[in-house]
Amino acid sequence: MKIVFCCTNTKAEPWLEGFRQALPGVDIWEWQAAQPGEAPKLADHAVVWSPPQSFLDEQTQLQNLFNIGAGVDALLKLKMPASLNIVRLNDAGMSVQMAEYVCHAVIRYFREFDHYDKDAQAQRWSYRKPTLRADFSVGILGAGVLGSHVAKTLQTFEFPVNVWSRSPKHIEGVKSFSGAAQLPEFLKATRVLVNLLPLTPETENILNSEHLMQLQQGAYLINVARGRHLVEQDLLDALANGHMAGATLDVFREEPLPQAHAFWTHPQITVTPHTSARTLREESIAQIAGKIKAVYAGQAIEGRVDKVRGY
Ligand code: NAP
Ligand code: GLV
Repeated sequence: MKIVFCCTNTKAEPWLEGFRQALPGVDIWEWQAAQPGEAPKLADHAVVWSPPQSFLDEQTQLQNLFNIGAGVDALLKLKMPASLNIVRLNDAGMSVQMAEYVCHAVIRYFREFDHYDKDAQAQRWSYRKPTLRADFSVGILGAGVLGSHVAKTLQTFEFPVNVWSRSPKHIEGVKSFSGAAQLPEFLKATRVLVNLLPLTPETENILNSEHLMQLQQGAYLINVARGRHLVEQDLLDALANGHMAGATLDVFREEPLPQAHAFWTHPQITVTPHTSARTLREESIAQIAGKIKAVYAGQAIEGRVDKVRGY
């Protein structure tokens, strides 16, 4: 079994060592473009994150691309044979991180911690009137691996939780909305909007004025999916006109977020550097190695991407 590793911005050696331990006898190496005139060494499977087109053009015998992330938008931009499977990471330690991040942001807004921080800086002992939980419903765009776990976790704090997805969902205690026809009703019921959609042609720019202005007065946005979901000026406008109260953004159209970008210094925007749910090496190696063994045993595996649907 031959596996090539091609992951942008990732130190290869600990991954290669991990796969050698998980799959004894495997021939695994870090990809380097073959020199002109040199025959490339061809692999059966690849472990990838945002590889260049030249990688796929060279590796012509691949059966599976194992993505070391949940989102496959970068892979789907590349030209590849229809027979080549894309396999995403399923959770692998991400959903608990995503739930921590989103719950932290929701609770920070709900309990007005920013105000208490300011009061503490001024050594001011002053209570704020508690917000009614019923007035703080959280709407999650996307109810897949991450969205459904976030929905369940938020319920432990007894927030009203709604989800919106392509197909209806059955998550106990959570109201499910689906399809374009139910999006307005979902938005109208939302005080905190959490975005956990994959980036596809259908979802790109979905966080726009038309949709943000349908949220409840004083709404918050938590974008933890992809920067291209958000029309940045539309968020700035909704904050400026007072319809929205704040946003926590982990992902951006351009990453790293450029130094001069307005988001860095906006008093109602919190920026984090695409860190809400990190790829965890041990968990990911265990999951991918398990899937590779399943492929050789002729078993079905989770996380096969539907290239037409885009996730
Ligand atoms: P997933 O399991 O594929 O779930 C996607 C959800 O979105 C599904 O519920 C799906 O509906 C829904 N959906 C897709 N297209 C839709 C459409 N056009 N209309 C309505 N609903 C639609 O994905 P996941 O694992 O939860 O991850 C979601 C995204 O999070 C990833 O694609 C990635 O971009 C992002 N992410 C970010 C970080 C970070 O650190 N910031 C980390 C990991 C992932 P159905 O269930 O009906 O198909
Ligand atoms: C991270 O953004 C991922 O898609 O896993």
